[in-house]
Amino acid sequence: MQPIDIGDLSLDLSKTTRQNALFHAIREKIVRGFWSKGNKLPSTRKLALELDVSRNTVIFAYEQLVSEGYIESRKGAGYFVSIEQPEYYLGTSKALSETVGKEPNDANGKAPFDVNQGFAPGVPDLQAFPFAKWQRLLQRHVTRLNLAGNQQVQGSIALREALSHYLASSRSVHCDYSRIIITVGAQQALSIALMATLKAGDEVLMEEPGYRQVHKIIDLLQLQMQPVPVREKQGLCLDKVLASQAHALYVTPSNQYPMGTTLTTEQRLKIIDWAKQKQAWIIEDDYDSEFQFAHRPYTSMQGLAGKLEQDERVIYVGSLSKVMFNGLRIGYMVVPKQLVPRCLEIKDAITGDSPTHTQEALADFINEGDLLRHIRKMRRLYKQKHEAMLTALEREFGQDLEVISQAAGLHVTVKWYGGISEQDWSERAERENIVVRPFSFYEYTKNNGRDWRAVVLGFGNIPLEQIPQKMRAIAQVFYRE
Ligand SMILES: Cc1ncc(COP(=O)(O)O)c(C=O)c1O
Repeated sequence: MQPIDIGDLSLDLSKTTRQNALFHAIREKIVRGFWSKGNKLPSTRKLALELDVSRNTVIFAYEQLVSEGYIESRKGAGYFVSIEQPEYYLGTSKALSETVGKEPNDANGKAPFDVNQGFAPGVPDLQAFPFAKWQRLLQRHVTRLNLAGNQQVQGSIALREALSHYLASSRSVHCDYSRIIITVGAQQALSIALMATLKAGDEVLMEEPGYRQVHKIIDLLQLQMQPVPVREKQGLCLDKVLASQAHALYVTPSNQYPMGTTLTTEQRLKIIDWAKQKQAWIIEDDYDSEFQFAHRPYTSMQGLAGKLEQDERVIYVGSLSKVMFNGLRIGYMVVPKQLVPRCLEIKDAITGDSPTHTQEALADFINEGDLLRHIRKMRRLYKQKHEAMLTALEREFGQDLEVISQAAGLHVTVKWYGGISEQDWSERAERENIVVRPFSFYEYTKNNGRDWRAVVLGFGNIPLEQIPQKMRAIAQVFYRE
């Protein structure tokens, strides 16, 4: 039961008395579903004050609404939208409250397709997150008055300091808090990075296949996309980068998305040198580097460049979406000192500052060791899930499917020749309520003549024990004639 906000309630006094106008205005709110059944109306005194009418006017209007069954009076508690709606309004228009916020079932009454379930790539284990602790941290800050007003566009200093320690120790990122900008996920950081460094028509080197969210920014900003092929097991075609005159390179060096390859330290150094020679920008997306199962993670490119005092061309982008949960919508960018003012100008123009309580809670989550604890726990769990994926793939598909991605991150990429198309497999799986992402989703250049097919299977949010059964379900539709 929620109290009703008077909101935009207004009286049309052109044809009638105040009392009647108020009756009609409230009735309209109720029958259109804006004021929902069971909710509490404002007190007569409050409404009179807000609308600048006498209290008697409100009492009369309320009584009329009671007598016609729109609202009811509960002794000592006030007036409530009535359970019973007058018959002649039933079926005329669907109450807004019945539709807003709910995905309708389809024509067969089937539950809506859940984009976070099955083998959805890019979603971490949501069940495993310590939400009780997170709630306590949010509560700790929620009543702090100094967080309620406008804040620094760059983001909370407490959070930036916490991140700078975390990034230095876990990713060898070279920075202090003055070079970190808090963003709405990595997505906003990537957008700001491209906006701050390039203008329409400039060339940007982009991994192909690559992260689709970056294709969208490239198109939006009318940049010229120069695809750099990423080959199975070999990774990014370095020769193409080194020979290029492009203005920037977008790269996921720790775990190329979606091919699952890594750039070696030697390759990273060559790219850093290329950027220096050509005065080009490197945009390093380090989105899931925390989850490497086969070896220790490589030092970030930004960190390597920093050691050589060559990090003035590297923009490092990170996200909390994988190590915490996607809905948090917090990411960050570490930018060279001279680029900070331009990035802040852009951030200010497109969103202004970031939600404050979440930032403060996150700073505590990092400082009190919860983030690292959670990452360690999840690394063990994802390693188990990765192994379970390989076992289930082997059992269901034998030699028919080949895993091409490394043991890292939250997904495996599998390929095959002939047989079902990736699109068909994905659509058939969707009918079973399972996400299977076709490889073509990540290709900017369509119909590039590849003779193999592939899909990306995320395992972050699938319960460990469900992997065999879900794999069987998608194998059945894979082999169906
Ligand atoms: C390559 C890549 N970068 C970054 C992200 C994180 O994006 P965001 O922080 O906007 O959720 C993802 C998430 O799936 C990703 O796949």
